Amino acid sequence: MAERIDGKAVAAEVIERVKRAADALREKTGTKTGLAVVIVGDDPASQVYVASKGRMAKECGFHSVEHRLPEDASGDELIDLVGRLNDDPSIHGILVQLPLPAHMDAGRVIQTISPEKDVDGFHFINVGKLGTGERETAFVPCTPAGSMLLIERTIGKELSGKTAVVVGRSNIVGKPMANLLLAANATVTIAHSRTPDLAAVCRTADVLVAAVGRPEMVRGDWIKPGAVVIDVGINRIDAPERGEGKTRLVGDVAYGEAEKVASAITPVPGGVGPMTIAMLMANAVTSAYRAAG
Ligand code: GUN
Repeated sequence: MAERIDGKAVAAEVIERVKRAADALREKTGTKTGLAVVIVGDDPASQVYVASKGRMAKECGFHSVEHRLPEDASGDELIDLVGRLNDDPSIHGILVQLPLPAHMDAGRVIQTISPEKDVDGFHFINVGKLGTGERETAFVPCTPAGSMLLIERTIGKELSGKTAVVVGRSNIVGKPMANLLLAANATVTIAHSRTPDLAAVCRTADVLVAAVGRPEMVRGDWIKPGAVVIDVGINRIDAPERGEGKTRLVGDVAYGEAEKVASAITPVPGGVGPMTIAMLMANAVTSAYRAAG
């Protein structure tokens, strides 16, 4: 049976380090790490994520602020708010929760966030820095950064000679994940919904990262025996076996099948999910250190 990679435990360690770093910065320079989270509208999943980001920021001893705009706010209102946060020296990290309502141009909004405060790592400057290996001054997107830390904890930092397959090509996960794996010297394939014989491509992977958002799409027989499997998916599905109207969370990987083949695998929940928030806190305190010089 595969080792169950405990993202909750690793995330808790990261949070402890962040707390100590934030305390030390405050004691030395008086700077309190400031994180602003902006949410537009009332998407229920986003509400949950934003609430837990705010809670965790407070737990880390940050100056934590949340800005809520109504669903029908204009793109310009949001951009004005981002501009004020860019200019606010008490704020070191700005996160605009995605998805934004359809009438807003999310790409345009993201590019108005100061790259020095872009703790999501979505601004072109940070994307470019990651792509060119300029990591010292970049922000790396939180979910891939957290996934990478779990991979390092499981098989080490050096992936030369290893084949990695990333299923999914989003800007938030798939593409930055591939860049991180490449930087660790893995031989990387990015596969996606239009890849022919996806199962065969996945079977080449020593490290398989699933980030497609399709419940349990990756089956046990898609996995190379002994592979490390990182399941980024968080999908809510109906669970009539738990009673009428009940739901449960599953990943993009059929866990019960995969754990019989893989050497290690992240569960859902309790794998990559907690790492995302922990890496956001790490990016925020890093930003505060950079601002304090
Ligand atoms: N929505 C889902 N994941 C993310 C994320 O990592 N950052 C932001 N800003 N929105 C998200």
